[in-house]
Amino acid sequence: PQSEAINRITKIFAFPISAYDALVDQFIKEMDEGLQQENRMPMIPTFVYELPTGEETGVILSLDLGGTNLRVCRTTLSGNGVFDIIHQKWTISDELKKGPGVELFAWIADRIEEFLSNQCQSERPEGEFPLGMTFSFPCDQQDINVGKLINWTKGFRGQDVVGKDVVKILQDRLDAKNLRIKVNSLINDTVGTLLATTYKHPGCEIGIIFGTGTNCAYLEDQKEITKIKVGAANYESPTGQQIINTEWGAFGNASGALPTNEYDTAVNARSSQPGKQLYEKMVSGLYISELARFVIHDLAQKGELFASASGKPKTDAELGDLAIKERFDGAMMGSLEGDESETLTVIEQHFQKTYGLATSQSDRETIKAICQLISARAARLSAVGIAALIKKRELLLQSKKVIVGIDGSLFNKYPGFRRHLEGALHEIFDPATVTAKIELIGAEDGSGVGGAIAAYLSCKHQGHSI
Ligand code: BG6
Ligand code: GLC
Repeated sequence: PQSEAINRITKIFAFPISAYDALVDQFIKEMDEGLQQENRMPMIPTFVYELPTGEETGVILSLDLGGTNLRVCRTTLSGNGVFDIIHQKWTISDELKKGPGVELFAWIADRIEEFLSNQCQSERPEGEFPLGMTFSFPCDQQDINVGKLINWTKGFRGQDVVGKDVVKILQDRLDAKNLRIKVNSLINDTVGTLLATTYKHPGCEIGIIFGTGTNCAYLEDQKEITKIKVGAANYESPTGQQIINTEWGAFGNASGALPTNEYDTAVNARSSQPGKQLYEKMVSGLYISELARFVIHDLAQKGELFASASGKPKTDAELGDLAIKERFDGAMMGSLEGDESETLTVIEQHFQKTYGLATSQSDRETIKAICQLISARAARLSAVGIAALIKKRELLLQSKKVIVGIDGSLFNKYPGFRRHLEGALHEIFDPATVTAKIELIGAEDGSGVGGAIAAYLSCKHQGHSI
């Protein structure tokens, strides 16, 4: 029989099928409002007006600042949807995430310099090397290569660069090093995912990240973006379309439409930006692992976990890192949930080695159930965003397939996430239609290529070749 604790947590994190329709409609409403006015879901107009055809060619540098890693890439686009990428990857340390922004940018410039001296010595073009910058934070773009950081998300904290043009900050650093690099485009990682997926799979119009954070970009008709003055300089789309960076992590911030529970409320209140990114806080890797840690910590304090040996609730001193915010990450949560052994040995060893905590079989089952419940709810809510966009754009009415490019550690690595997400889409739409018409394509490390394609399109738009 299931423990009392599991029953209670199951009720708290339940997401009934009956909740889908109203939430999908509310999501569409918030996206539409964001296209019409400021201070809603951001729905940021990018300066990318077209998708690649797959026939673009050239050798281009890009950088990709994600939620976990920085990559510097040199991509060779060969046409026919074929590309080759050489890259170096560095984990972004906690100090860099939480320290001053100028230090983060100085570190990025150092890594670009390191990459150039390791990988590109013999192949430098005569003039400036164009570089596409993929930056996974909300920026208010004034042009393809100008964007002011609106605010940090995902626990990054460098307040000194908020409101400033991130391209200029990086360009100044590169110029100080005399690297002869021109940052010619700035895109969000969701735009990068979209461009990279489309290069290989023409017809893709949606790019999504389910990783440390979550977000989505898609191709919109410019006439629908009524908050901008169509026809004004820079906004003249040669195609009549424009990619929108939705920043959908902000869904529910103003409306209170999300089905939050007492744990969501507590995690939000303790986060670096209370009241912001409420959808992201129920969906993405950084926050669902924090939710799991918070629930485990709560049960331990109530004497419902780790108490079998002593019979007493654990104190924070005894719980060590488990009592500390964000000391339990998505990768760890995934490996615990992925424990398929009968006695749950991965969970047993993890709690013993990392926190010095002995677990009973019932403790381990409860821990696994907590991870499963939180990640399954995250997958269902993720499907709500996808379904809303598909419905809003009436994509199922088209004869072609709906191709969705998806990247991020949650989608690519978390056990069962993709299965739950697909299951949820089957619950929302008619299952036969989903199977026949919706294709989710994993785009691992996609934004490096996406950044290169953006740099290519930027050169093309300005009338010079790469
Ligand atoms: C990477 C992309 O694969 O995934 C990045 O190339 C993106 O652009 C990242 O930001 C998101 O995943 P995570 O898990 O690092 O947040
Ligand atoms: C956060 C950022 C957004 C990014 C997403 C995925 O939501 O605000 O810009 O795309 O994380 O990395």
